[in-house]
Amino acid sequence: MLDVPKKLASRLAWSVKRRGVRDTVKMVPQVVVARLKHRFHPEGRAYVQADRAFDERYGGIDTAGFISPVELDFEGSAKDGANGYQAVGEESVREMMNSVPLEHEKFTFVDFGSGKGRACLLASEFPFEQIIGVELSESLHQVACDNVEKFTPPWPQRCNHITPVQADATTYALPEKPLVIFMYNPFLADIMRKVVAHIVRDLEAKPREAYLFYNRPNHANVLEEFDAISLLDEREYWKAYRIGQA
Ligand SMILES: C[S@@+](CC[C@H](N)C(=O)[O-])C[C@H]1O[C@@H](n2cnc3c(N)ncnc32)[C@H](O)[C@@H]1O
Repeated sequence: MLDVPKKLASRLAWSVKRRGVRDTVKMVPQVVVARLKHRFHPEGRAYVQADRAFDERYGGIDTAGFISPVELDFEGSAKDGANGYQAVGEESVREMMNSVPLEHEKFTFVDFGSGKGRACLLASEFPFEQIIGVELSESLHQVACDNVEKFTPPWPQRCNHITPVQADATTYALPEKPLVIFMYNPFLADIMRKVVAHIVRDLEAKPREAYLFYNRPNHANVLEEFDAISLLDEREYWKAYRIGQA
């Protein structure tokens, strides 16, 4: 794992190369504000500690931390419509997965906006046929690949077929398998609409059983625009949906 000054230096070098010195300098105040907001969030300190403890507990992986949207290493409309990186809470994934009785062996789990891969790693507690993480950021995708290698859970891992993929969620070609789709607040409303329309079209063309688990469902109103999507269960921090017919 890189230490903080090395990480910062490599991000700055990347940004100068891709955006130039002037745009990198312009970005700095936005990054500082986003990081301070994150650091001094009411749950901040406890959250940061739990985030790091998770990585130690699971084999010295690297899923902790926060990356603001302006720092993500991709550009264009995908970046304008992206939320930053932050890993999902362990218990909420477990709670969501247990809320809908599924024959996991039949399903492929796909995390749209998989970041460093925490949700994919946690999903391997369940016997999914396959687990795929779709992440547009090259650097986060690389970290996810390393994490898959290092991951050592304290529970029996019931799916060893975890594949991080570097791709844009708006165009990613879904596997022709029954699907459990997972999202942890990855997009703003416009990209969310595009991604969900893409998923619904794919399922209409090739009908199969599919569920959507949406954690921190800030744009759940977008899902209400689609007749094919129906709410199955919800808690304070997540909503579970069925896509298409039972
Ligand atoms: C909040 S993080 C979620 C991390 C991960 N799912 C987890 O639960 O630990 C959202 C991720 O979505 C990614 N993302 C945003 N827009 C994307 C797009 N169009 N295609 C793929 N990934 C995207 C971001 O780079 C970021 O890593």
